[in-house]
Amino acid sequence: MKKNMGVVGAVMVGLLAGCASVKTADFDEIKLYTLKNKAGTTVKVTNYGATVTSIVTADRDGNLADIALGYNDVSGYMNAVDKPYFGSVVGRYGNRIAKGKFSIDGQEYTLATNNGENHLHGGVIGFDKVVWDAEIVGKNAVKFSYLAKDGEEGYPGNLQIAVTYTLTEESELKIDYLATTDKKTPVNLTNHTYFNLKGEGEGTILDHELMINAKATTPVDSGLIPTGEITPVNGTPFDFTSAKAIGRDISKKDRQLEYGLGYDHNFVLDKGGKDGQMTLAATVYEPTSGRFMEVFTEEPGIQFYCGNFLAGNLKGKAGKTYVHRGGFCLETQHYPDSPNQPAFPSTILAPGEEYKTGTIYRFGVK
Ligand code: GLA
Repeated sequence: MKKNMGVVGAVMVGLLAGCASVKTADFDEIKLYTLKNKAGTTVKVTNYGATVTSIVTADRDGNLADIALGYNDVSGYMNAVDKPYFGSVVGRYGNRIAKGKFSIDGQEYTLATNNGENHLHGGVIGFDKVVWDAEIVGKNAVKFSYLAKDGEEGYPGNLQIAVTYTLTEESELKIDYLATTDKKTPVNLTNHTYFNLKGEGEGTILDHELMINAKATTPVDSGLIPTGEITPVNGTPFDFTSAKAIGRDISKKDRQLEYGLGYDHNFVLDKGGKDGQMTLAATVYEPTSGRFMEVFTEEPGIQFYCGNFLAGNLKGKAGKTYVHRGGFCLETQHYPDSPNQPAFPSTILAPGEEYKTGTIYRFGVK
């Protein structure tokens, strides 16, 4: 196979036992692709859930570590305890839809509910639990495609989706999303990678210094459904407009932090009038390794989730325990529950339109 990239093969192996929730379990179809640049950054992606399984980058002394949480084999992803969605593309609607209900043009739709009374990350068998078609589309670029059928998890319309992962020589992991539909439907795709810039399984992320380019959030109720308000972060633990340690204010008394059990909130990005254009959304710096990460997106929001549901019962790829808050996600997206929130940017895709959006995670050191 090619030096820089190629199908490493069906490296992933797994057991069929306990895979009742998995729609397709044809292991021959499951492949792992390795993207590698000259700087030594290596990203692995699989067509099971269009998932990023590994991101290896150098620290400031050139030592390599895998900074993405995940599993060594596909059975881990299929049987995931507590459903962490490690590295996957989530959809058709990433994040929550209240009570799994919404209406389009007067027609009510009912989705699968899988998060209490609410719908989360596409339902019981979301895009993270299906096998996508895969195609190598360039140097260090792999395109995953999936046709979500009309009625799947309750959504209207056949939705044809393509997600392309590209690793550049500048150590950017570019994620390009494309979708078309034959009936009006909500669409909100994101990637659910958990990062720990010290390395997966190397303790908590509370010392990571995070900046989010957002002056407001969309506060939630106790079920993590937005109230519809857009609230300034100024003077609250949600102010990440200047970089600060994730753990600095996480234990402060705050109703929103209580609801989220920590940070698990959508931040309203400052797009500077550049709606739909690629702008800087967040930066993260980890002082001991020197690793630095930037997130750019065309999306209007970002869900910052700091691994509050990691309970210390999962072991990582190197056999180390994923502790509580042992990884964070920066899920670029539209706001949660937008189909029920007329004041939020629309997530409805109509026939003839193209859902087209991109996000870049850039890795470096300082
Ligand atoms: C998202 C949600 C969280 C949680 C994780 C997966 O980020 O907002 O509440 O469900 O996914 O554990």
